Amino acid sequence: MEETKPNSDCNVIVNPNGPLMVIGRIDIKHADGRIENKEKTTAFCRCGASANKPFCDGSHRKIEFIG
Ligand code: FES
Repeated sequence: MEETKPNSDCNVIVNPNGPLMVIGRIDIKHADGRIENKEKTTAFCRCGASANKPFCDGSHRKIEFIG
């Protein structure tokens, strides 16, 4: 039987036509080596249009991202 509810400490949800939502405590290592801690929910851009990558800034709505 397929599990329908995530049950780990950190869960990832793919929002249809929107960002990748990471729920839980995570450490992000940026391209410049900087480490950023996130404690709750973090939205990562999947559409490529964000001006605040790697995070979603809502631009997926403007470009009508499908995916
Ligand atoms: S997914 Fe939201 S700006 Fe790219």
